[in-house]
Amino acid sequence: MTEPAFYRLLLWGFLLVAALTFPALFFITAPYGRHEAKSWGPTIGNRLGWLVMESPSVLAFFACWYLGGRPTDPASLAFLFLWQLHYVHRAWIFPFRIKSGPKRMPIAIAASAFTFTLINGYLNGRWLFGFGADRYGAAWLEEPRFWIGAAVFLVGFAINQHADWVLLHLRKPGETGYKIPRGGLYRWVTCPNYFGEIVEWTGFAICTWSLPGLAFALWTIANLLPRARSHHRWYREKFPEYPPERRALVPGLF
Ligand SMILES: NC(=O)c1ccc[n+]([C@@H]2O[C@H](COP(=O)([O-])OP(=O)(O)OC[C@H]3O[C@@H](n4cnc5c(N)ncnc54)[C@H](OP(=O)(O)O)[C@@H]3O)[C@@H](O)[C@H]2O)c1
Repeated sequence: MTEPAFYRLLLWGFLLVAALTFPALFFITAPYGRHEAKSWGPTIGNRLGWLVMESPSVLAFFACWYLGGRPTDPASLAFLFLWQLHYVHRAWIFPFRIKSGPKRMPIAIAASAFTFTLINGYLNGRWLFGFGADRYGAAWLEEPRFWIGAAVFLVGFAINQHADWVLLHLRKPGETGYKIPRGGLYRWVTCPNYFGEIVEWTGFAICTWSLPGLAFALWTIANLLPRARSHHRWYREKFPEYPPERRALVPGLF
């Protein structure tokens, strides 16, 4: 099989699995963090799990740029910058900022997320710096889609960073329990970090105007919308005083 044929098959398979995963996650909540469960087999430490899960995003995308001839036109550099702005933090900084104590996650979760980020990094990187590269180049910067998408991405990035920052500062050193987060978008929703993440990858899809970019944005929604509902339900059960006006994910909607 040629690589383009393999790529097409992988991309459509990736979209199909996203469509199946979305409804499934309303019934199964991935067992990490507050939804930790003992029944998912062997586990690894949370911090190591995050490193393992997210590193392929940095490495696969970078490898596609490097092996794709290290393009230095402004659009290619912008795509590389936006992607790595998010993922260098997520893979190599965020794991050292979490305060989860001795919390662990199932190896099955880390392994499936590893597979996901590897495929996703390849699909997006290979398109932008390989199969789809002819569509971009310097001329792509004259496209409103590029600028609108980049702006949406950066707004989402700021929302995600701020929301995670609030969460990561709720615990004092040595604490492992949960508190009600407040301020910023927490006034309106339970999971502004997930909301920001969805805005980010929607922006990336617009900026690159590509099917792999769209597939990633849909995957992010498929993963995080059901999880935001699970978090929301969990807060309401755990804290009787939880602000009743807060929605799960999107201000004013749900
Ligand atoms: N693109 C995707 O598909 C995708 C998928 C998953 C995650 N992500 C991103 O990865 C980041 C982390 O995700 P996550 O699912 O771990 O988010 P999370 O459940 O909101 O937790 C984030 C961190 O804050 C801590 N925390 C959360 N709520 C807290 C509270 N009320 N009191 C004290 N500490 C609290 C958590 O500790 P514990 O670990 O102890 O709960 C964890 O270390 C987010 O920015 C998310 O958008 C992206």
